[in-house]
Amino acid sequence: MTERRTEDLRVSRRRLLGVSGVGVLAGAAAGAGLVSAARADEDKAPAAGGAIPFHGAHQSGIATPVQDRLHFAAFDVVTDDRAKLAGLLKDWTAAAAAMTAGRPHGAGAVGGIPEAPPDDTGEALGLPASRLTLTIGFGAGLFESGGKDRFGLRARRPAALVDLPHFAGDRLDPERSGGDLAVQACADDPQVAVHAIRNLARIGFGVVSVRWSQLGFGKTSSTTPEEHTPRNMMGFKDGTSNIPGTDAELLDRHVWAAPADGSDWMAGGSYLVARRIRMHIETWDRTSLKEQEQLIGRDKAEGAAFGRTKERDPVILDRMEPNAHVRLVHPDTNGGIRILRRGYSFTDGSDGLGRLDAGLFFIAYQRDPRKGFIPLQRSLAADGLNEYLQHVGSGIWACPPGVRQGGFWGEGLF
Ligand code: HEM
Repeated sequence: MTERRTEDLRVSRRRLLGVSGVGVLAGAAAGAGLVSAARADEDKAPAAGGAIPFHGAHQSGIATPVQDRLHFAAFDVVTDDRAKLAGLLKDWTAAAAAMTAGRPHGAGAVGGIPEAPPDDTGEALGLPASRLTLTIGFGAGLFESGGKDRFGLRARRPAALVDLPHFAGDRLDPERSGGDLAVQACADDPQVAVHAIRNLARIGFGVVSVRWSQLGFGKTSSTTPEEHTPRNMMGFKDGTSNIPGTDAELLDRHVWAAPADGSDWMAGGSYLVARRIRMHIETWDRTSLKEQEQLIGRDKAEGAAFGRTKERDPVILDRMEPNAHVRLVHPDTNGGIRILRRGYSFTDGSDGLGRLDAGLFFIAYQRDPRKGFIPLQRSLAADGLNEYLQHVGSGIWACPPGVRQGGFWGEGLF
């Protein structure tokens, strides 16, 4: 009987409604021992359809294929208790392993003690895993905050986790910037991504609070060159020239931190820079096609570089205007710098003046932001696109390596 109940708790969300049925589960009240048995076993449970493996050398959500939707959340840690922080990371890891496999977390959304709120909020019941990935990052505030070594981690702050400098044109809103922790949830179904962040926030009550969050749609990058390249809100293909998620050599060189980089616990991890970049869409829409193409350096229909006919033809940089975006960020202009872009479009309604609050939630992963995002963003001081853009939110986080079976997010740090 116990085995049957344990099995019920481990079934995928799809099976919950499809095969097992809510009624079966509702009838099987879960006791505390039962829940921990399920937790102990969950890492071995087979993945549900559309599931991206959670465990591995690297966190998923970086080099894995880009999903359609994003819910990104930055958190402040509201306690100075190191044990509570480590406990939260363990709880989050267990929940992330379950949810990315298409299962509800904890004792589930139904079938538990009727007098208590269910562990899982339930809105993903019946939905497949939807390629959900959850990727965590640690911000500078985890290592030091207001001059205080809150968690005894100051000495372990990686040199590459720098504070981002001020860039020309920045108009950053502190309420949309920073955060001690960040979680990037990507899934093909927005409800699955939102469910994941909502449940992590709920689990973290008393230890973390959400500082800001961002929903994204219409991926603006691709780590799978064989798929068609998506378009951004300016109507241009975005992600043509990106680091393919299957190119282990390029990933090792440009994306994954190595032991030689100075922080052992970060080996196999990566550094995440996020920027909320608002677009002055209405002004852009009044710009001629010719000028739009000159500003990007590629044509709008095919995405081919100037002087070329096909999207993937190699670029001829000196055929582009000196202030063309692609010319300024191309590796040949920047001593070979490459980053892995994984951003999403956003539209958060309009701003009260009738203008769309829309743009690009830019996300980049790299081995060292001092040799990635920072010099590239400095090059972009000359970008002709700047007239149409405003960076309004920003953050940088150290994303630890992947989780081994039985381990937890950031284990090497603690
Ligand atoms: C809203 C702001 C931005 C827009 C609309 C935009 C748009 C584009 C477009 C259309 C391309 C050409 C297609 C492609 O190769 O993907 C491109 C390429 C690229 N962008 Fe951006 N981008 C923006 C911000 C940034 C930022 C902030 C950075 C880095 C600091 C960046 C770095 C790159 C890189 C590295 C490439 C590939 C260049 C190459 O290797 O050819 N972009 N971008």
